[in-house]
Amino acid sequence: MKLNKNFIMLASAATLAFGFVTLPSYADDKPYTVTNGNELDADSYKGFKLYRNWCARCHGTYGQGMVGPNLADSLNVISKDEYITTVTEGKTGSIGSMPAWKSNPEVIKGMDQMYAYLKARADGAIGVVKPKKAK
Ligand code: HEC
Repeated sequence: MKLNKNFIMLASAATLAFGFVTLPSYADDKPYTVTNGNELDADSYKGFKLYRNWCARCHGTYGQGMVGPNLADSLNVISKDEYITTVTEGKTGSIGSMPAWKSNPEVIKGMDQMYAYLKARADGAIGVVKPKKAK
């Protein structure tokens, strides 16, 4: 029984993974490259550094959540447009309040780079570990 259920889960996971890989429209959903577990491409690494400077004190060192929500979870739920709007305009909700970042040129300029790092976290491509810049 148990083995059967595991097999079905494995098979569905494989189907999902396979479907994901073969759909070209999803290509843009992977704006990062992770090698050796924690090595990021230059843009995603820049994103991590910006994230660490401006966001980590509320969302945790690696986005795992603190007074602000876990962004590795959030980015599997909200769209990129919602991410951009939320960061630009700020958000007050059931969890608390985040200031708007539109007057911070570093954050606005690094929006895509931070998204790349957080998306890598959301996809589980990199875990709750200190990233390095790939050589
Ligand atoms: C002062 C603390 C604080 C800082 C700093 C902060 N945030 Fe937030 N952020 C929050 C809180 C609190 C929420 C949740 C608001 C709510 O929905 O109640 C939030 C929500 C969000 C959300 C929406 C999550 C969702 O599931 O809807 C995103 C995306 C986000 N923050 C990204 C960032 C980024 C990127 C930065 C750095 C540029 C940042 N935050 C800096 C406190 C902060």
